[in-house]
Amino acid sequence: MSSRLSVCLLASESVPLSKTGGLADVTGALTKYLHGAGHDVRLFTPCYASVARSAFGALPVAGLADLPLALGQHRYSFSVLRGVMPGGAAVYLVDCPALYARPTLYTSDPDEHLRFLALTQAALSACQRLGWAPQIVHCNDWHTSFAPLFLRTRWRAEPLFGSTRTVLTIHNIGYQGVFAAEQVADLGLSPSDLPLLHQGDLAAGRINALRHGILYADAVTTVSPTYAREICTAEYGMGLEDSLRARAAVLSGILNGVDYEEWDPRRDRYLPAHYDEATLAVKLRLKHRFLQRQQLDAAGGAPLAGLVSRLASQKGIDLLAEVLPDTLRSRPLAFVALGTGEPRYAQFLRSLQAQFPGRVRFHEGYDDELAHWIEAASDLFLMPSRYEPCGLNQMYSLRYGTLPLVRRTGGLADSVQHFDPASGSGTGIVFNDFNAQGLKWGLDAALDLYQRPAQWLRAQKNAMQQDFSWARQGAHYVALYRKVIAA
Ligand code: ADP
Ligand code: GLC
Repeated sequence: MSSRLSVCLLASESVPLSKTGGLADVTGALTKYLHGAGHDVRLFTPCYASVARSAFGALPVAGLADLPLALGQHRYSFSVLRGVMPGGAAVYLVDCPALYARPTLYTSDPDEHLRFLALTQAALSACQRLGWAPQIVHCNDWHTSFAPLFLRTRWRAEPLFGSTRTVLTIHNIGYQGVFAAEQVADLGLSPSDLPLLHQGDLAAGRINALRHGILYADAVTTVSPTYAREICTAEYGMGLEDSLRARAAVLSGILNGVDYEEWDPRRDRYLPAHYDEATLAVKLRLKHRFLQRQQLDAAGGAPLAGLVSRLASQKGIDLLAEVLPDTLRSRPLAFVALGTGEPRYAQFLRSLQAQFPGRVRFHEGYDDELAHWIEAASDLFLMPSRYEPCGLNQMYSLRYGTLPLVRRTGGLADSVQHFDPASGSGTGIVFNDFNAQGLKWGLDAALDLYQRPAQWLRAQKNAMQQDFSWARQGAHYVALYRKVIAA
């Protein structure tokens, strides 16, 4: 049972090379875990302009320079650089400046689908040229969702991939990689393979990348058991629920893990002092230092609530807009937010700061160090998500003794238990309904709990004892790979 697996991991972003959200944390940490567990894992990801090649010792690979790549009428040339991830796993950077030398990782340019079809195709082509036969190709999100279909079509005749099996992990069904049916030639399928495309979508004039991963991967996972159930419903499936229900037999949820080398107050490299359950006084000192630096005033020992988030409708910022002004008016509370994304949410957070000077601080942008400080210094962490496939920040918060206030959905429901003062069990505050009353109830419950220090401390300790390490979660992927290979 303990044979070494060969896994080709395809990801559009991966820590510490590139990151916009949790996908990068997860693909980076899973790569590290698999390598550490002795498997031959090779990560393929774009060599974006922002990737610090030299930091990863990235060097050209013999036989993988200036290779041609055809996607329909489009002709590119790419090279592959091999580098080393922290922990020692191999990373193969697909270098194709025509596609990846852009100011941001993702774009709304007309060739966005080509950028990731190229990643998929380049990775398979590199495996072939290296003579490396992965047992598993593990694709992530829409970007690399065509790998399973490509293996059955464009690569069908390649004996090297004869026993290769595929796993697709859906990190977020809100992004599906839809492009126009007129661009069907970009897939490079032969006419006899075209019937394998989803005909309903084609008739409606579109091609949905993620749907093809769902239809053709040997196994489909998502990042929490609850989200795996939710996406089979019309409320959460975003139009893909039928395809998911059709593949229910191979669909499962594996909760994400946390890289505690990065996210643990016992050793956080961004913090000047470290703490654990027994030294929570240090956390309080960090809070005061942070408040001072942020010019925030938590008079009378008011709690500090934190938010670190992509500013997208998924994240429930609109609920905060409905509820926070009243709460800030009526109860002692300070609030610090870090995020970037949709202008309307940034605008709300800016105006909240203007309305409550000294009590609200908003940082628009992306800042790793500040994200760690907010986790450590806050008392409460807000994640009132409309939907949340897994969510990482609530799990980070648990470890930092920063009680997460979450909506009962997806991975939030699977990782946070509502604190029950009677039994002393629970790790955070959980509200049910995605509406202003729901969030208001949750905020009031949290602020009331904060008034009862002994109970708050109990909840903090419960939270800090949770273990979502990759040592636990990664084993589920390995078990799934073995199951898929054996099937
Ligand atoms: P999602 O992937 O939907 O954005 P997750 O909770 O899974 O949500 O992961 C978000 C990750 O991105 C966390 O590591 C979080 O700290 C980080 N993050 C999000 N926004 C920012 C930001 N503005 N600055 C720094 N880190 C951020
Ligand atoms: C996504 C989801 C988030 C999840 C992350 C990593 O972007 O929104 O809930 O934690 O992917 O799987």
